[in-house]
Parts: sequence; C-alpha cells; structure tokens
Amino acid sequence: MPSILFVCLGNICRSPAAEGMLRKKVDENGTLKNITIDSCGLGDWHEGQLPDERMRAAAKSRGLALTMRARSIRPKDMEEFDYILAASRTVINDLYHYATNPQEKGKIQLITAYSKTYHNQDIPDPYHKDAVDFDLVLDILEDCCDGLLNHLTSRYSST
Ligand code: 4NP
Repeated sequence: MPSILFVCLGNICRSPAAEGMLRKKVDENGTLKNITIDSCGLGDWHEGQLPDERMRAAAKSRGLALTMRARSIRPKDMEEFDYILAASRTVINDLYHYATNPQEKGKIQLITAYSKTYHNQDIPDPYHKDAVDFDLVLDILEDCCDGLLNHLTSRYSST
C-alpha cells in the first residue's frame, strides 16, 4: 500500500487539511487498506501544535475534525514515503534539497497534480489572510483529494 506525505510551510493550514481530507475520503471509500497518510512542514515554527484554529473551524463546518500535531520534515521522509505532495512550487523547490537521488526527487509533485479544476496550480498560503481564503484552500483540496483518491483506487484498490 502506498504512503502519502503532504507538505506545506508550517504544517498548520494546508497540509494537515489535505491529510485529514484524504483520510476521510479513503475511510469512506473503504478499498484502500493500510494506506499511510501524513503531513509535515518545511519549518518547525509550530512543532507540536494543532492546526490553525481558522483552518480547524473551516474544516469542522465540512464535517472534518483536524486533530493532528504539526511536525517538520525529516530527511528520512524522502525515502519512506511514496508520494511527496507539495502545496506550492516554493515548497517543491525546498523539497528538492532534501532529495538525495533521482528516485526521491521523482516522488515530489504538487498536490494539485491530481486536481482537474486547479491542475498544477499553487495552493495559496492562507496564513496571513481571512476565513474566505481558508475556505478556498478546502475547495481546492476537495478537488485534489477526489482526483488523488481516483488515482490511488485505480492503482491499489483491493476489491
Ligand atoms: P501552511 O501555512 O504552510 O499552510 O501551514 C503557514 C503557516 C504558518 C506560517 C506560514 C504558512 N508561518 O510563517 O508561521
């Protein structure tokens, strides 16, 4: 079963929302047993913290509880995860510095690589913005996670 790592800057807004949303869709789908879904940030400014309360509120209004704790990226993540999905090109460029070989580099993609509507766009950083911007992140992630679930089920589904 594949392992998926979502990466943003602080691991308190975009990547934990992506982690929670994909896990919910995977659980509802029920055909991807033992898949690993995680998230992290490039920085350690919010290490150990819950997701930003604005993101938790926006997610809660969609029935999504975000209870994970922030962590920063570890070098071994590049080896351990199969899919390393970045919130933006800025994040991708930093992740390339962690890749130690072409295989690891090849795992790195934008989260929106799997989106129809927002294909290969950056997911805007909502941290210094307003509630509406947090909602937009979740709209984008819904589309990304639907596409990603389709991709994963067609490759790895056990039923
Ligand atoms: P995220 O948002 O990368 O989506 O978690 C941010 C959170 C915190 C900061 C920047 C972006 N920060 O500078 O602390």
